[in-house]
Amino acid sequence: MKFELRHGRPEDAIEFAKLLNKSIKNKTAPFINTNRPLTLKDTKKYAKSIRKREILYFVAEVDNKVIAAVSARLAHNVSLGWAIDENHRGKGIGTKLLKYVCTELKKIKRLKRLECSIVSENKASIKIAKRAGFKRAGILKNAFKVDNGRYHNLYIFEKLL
Ligand SMILES: CC(C)(COP(=O)(O)OP(=O)(O)OC[C@H]1O[C@@H](n2cnc3c(N)ncnc32)[C@H](O)[C@@H]1OP(=O)(O)O)[C@@H](O)C(=O)NCCC(=O)NCCS
Repeated sequence: MKFELRHGRPEDAIEFAKLLNKSIKNKTAPFINTNRPLTLKDTKKYAKSIRKREILYFVAEVDNKVIAAVSARLAHNVSLGWAIDENHRGKGIGTKLLKYVCTELKKIKRLKRLECSIVSENKASIKIAKRAGFKRAGILKNAFKVDNGRYHNLYIFEKLL
């Protein structure tokens, strides 16, 4: 098995959206902040932001196929989001990819702070964030509605670079 972590390209976002849509359809990504599948128009818009470097994109590949991605939206601070193909979870890939992303973003001297918001029940994401050195900075109560209609608390995790 060939495994690689690398910076993403705009076209990777389109490829990755297909995996994400599968997880949304199978309801194995209940804490992703979209309950509807991504359209081609959504992903083209996303790819454009990557091209313009408003978003930096990082991916993990298995046998030359993108199976995981982290997006980093650049503003005053950097807001991160991630997901991995449901068939490749629980093998340490999320942890490896997030640590790699932190190392890469640290090279950009003007960036001072990484942030992500994670639903309090999303144990796997909390685990990988802590392993990559993120600390819990706060809690937003009833800030996230999952498609079962229930509201969940959101934890804000931060990492100073
Ligand atoms: C979050 C996600 C990226 C993690 O990726 P991953 O490659 O499975 O992560 P890792 O294998 O590196 O680590 C996950 C850890 O969480 C653990 N875990 C998974 N589900 C868990 C649960 N329900 N309760 C407790 N621990 C859990 C795993 O056992 C593993 O811990 P271990 O290494 O001690 O065994 C992946 O689960 C995912 O894509 N989820 C859906 C999308 C999502 O939630 N995105 C985040 C939005 S903020």
